[in-house]
Amino acid sequence: MSNIIDGKHVAKVLRENIKTETAELLEKAGKAPNLTVVIVGENPASQSYVRSKKKFAIEVGFESDTIELPESITEAQLLAQIEKLNADPNVNGILVQLPLPTHINEQTVIRTIAVEKDVDGFHPEQVGGLSIGLDTLEPCTPAGIIELLKYYNIETSGKNAVVIGRSNIVGKPIASMLLKLNATVTITHSRTANLPAVASGADILVVAIGKPHFLTGDMVKDGAVVIDVGINRTKEGKLVGDVDFESASKKASYITPVPGGVGPMTIAMLLANTLKAFKKQSNL
Ligand code: GUN
Repeated sequence: MSNIIDGKHVAKVLRENIKTETAELLEKAGKAPNLTVVIVGENPASQSYVRSKKKFAIEVGFESDTIELPESITEAQLLAQIEKLNADPNVNGILVQLPLPTHINEQTVIRTIAVEKDVDGFHPEQVGGLSIGLDTLEPCTPAGIIELLKYYNIETSGKNAVVIGRSNIVGKPIASMLLKLNATVTITHSRTANLPAVASGADILVVAIGKPHFLTGDMVKDGAVVIDVGINRTKEGKLVGDVDFESASKKASYITPVPGGVGPMTIAMLLANTLKAFKKQSNL
């Protein structure tokens, strides 16, 4: 039976540390970080994420604004709004909630955000920086996974890490981060030949493929660490991960549950990135 990695607890500890540091900075510099979130349209899941981001930002002592724009906004109008935030010295972090309506090019929007305010870590310059080992603002979900591994003192150096999924948001950046921590990294995906054989050689498995219960216990080596990044909703409305927890937890030494594993870490890391951006912009 495995140890459960408690992301809810680790996220809370992180937020408490951020809150303490924010209060000290407010005392010292007389200002607090500002996170501004832009949301286009009325996707209920996006609205819920954006509300949580604001709630936690306020809770740690940040200022936080939400800019709600209609689905009908043109790409040019959205880019102009971002340029305004780029130029506003009171805004330290900008996050444009994804997905965007199909008439707006996501990559163009991401490139328009000032690199130093890109608290999602999605700008190509940050992605490039991460891949060559620079100190960048790192994408929040994979950065949260690394925090969990560190919190539980899980060794990465010399370990075989297998990443399942090659998204820009999780698969590719977590591979770069694990490589930086001296793991031997394999990225697998939907076209990988004999994926179960590759997975079963892993000391650390990161599963972000977006398929409910994709990874089963027979693909897990005894004692492996299993990180489940999946958030899938069943027909009954239940949240399930990309890992079949029941069978995988019989083999793993450590495993993240869904919910309560990786999920809570994403917003905690967004707050950490906003604080980092604020300090850099304010020379603190
Ligand atoms: N939509 C789902 N996850 C994310 C995220 O991490 N950042 C942004 N901007 N949009 C998202």
